[in-house]
Amino acid sequence: MGRSITIASGKGGVGKTTITANVGIALAMSGQRVLMVDADIAMANLSLLLQMQNSPITLHEVLIGEASVEDAIYSGPKGVDFIPSGLSLESYRSADSQRLKGVIEAVEDNYDFVLLDAPAGIERNVMSSLGSSKQVLLVTLPNSPSLADALKTKMVAERLMSKPFGVIINMMRGEKGELAKDEIMKMLELPCYGVIPYDPEVRKTFILKDSKPIILRKPNSPAGKAFQLTAAKLSGQEVKFDEVKRQGFLAKLLSIFKKKPEKKSTEANKK
Ligand SMILES: Nc1ncnc2c1ncn2[C@@H]1O[C@H](COP(=O)(O)OP(=O)(O)OP(=O)(O)O)[C@@H](O)[C@H]1O
Ligand SMILES: [Mg+2]
Repeated sequence: MGRSITIASGKGGVGKTTITANVGIALAMSGQRVLMVDADIAMANLSLLLQMQNSPITLHEVLIGEASVEDAIYSGPKGVDFIPSGLSLESYRSADSQRLKGVIEAVEDNYDFVLLDAPAGIERNVMSSLGSSKQVLLVTLPNSPSLADALKTKMVAERLMSKPFGVIINMMRGEKGELAKDEIMKMLELPCYGVIPYDPEVRKTFILKDSKPIILRKPNSPAGKAFQLTAAKLSGQEVKFDEVKRQGFLAKLLSIFKKKPEKKSTEANKK
């Protein structure tokens, strides 16, 4: 039976879309059958990330009742299936997000994982995403405002009978003042399903001309490896998530002084 999971956060910009894309593709790379759904029907960021925003039939048409769900499923990278959302404001306004639950139920048994990228907040479309999946994976940054919003989202999900089962901590920098992994797990009363470091390579995704999720560009980068660990944990493997190493001011200063001189200047000295 398929496992439907909404990736949700409460706070915006914490990495839901990035995590859905990279973990979804990492799961597919490890042999799982995956469907990713751009449930952020107003913004369609996941569709932009996968460059599928101009697909002829999208989730909008399915939620309007003009197309069947099968017609909105496309093949994505590494064998993932994908239901994009469109960019048209008109079709967005006509789409009935209440129909999403039926859409997911119609296809989830064909997959091992169905991942829904939720919008931010706790408005109507978010509720529909949360209520359409059986489970919810929360995303938070290691700070209090983000954690408070994740907690609120957890409570909303429980009321909608969708089970929050884990938390992913994103953009860990190892800086002083960040909440620790254990504090976050204790506050949410949930196990950890990922500690993703802040990685400038991730941010490049939307800047590069040929934008692709980092898992496809640099699978062995720090964030790429972290996404693979989350995929392994979701697949039932025993995974231990380390904190991102805290680098204090002194350590940073030392690392600057310890930097080896560049070869060029050494040769210049010899002359
Ligand atoms: N681990 C990371 N390291 C560096 N940058 C990151 C990381 N995760 C996400 N980002 C960047 O943060 C920004 C927001 O990410 P993303 O769009 O995935 O968040 P979101 O939660 O889906 O946002 P929204 O609430 O608007 O839907 C993007 O520019 C993305 O590249
Ligand atoms: Mg998003």
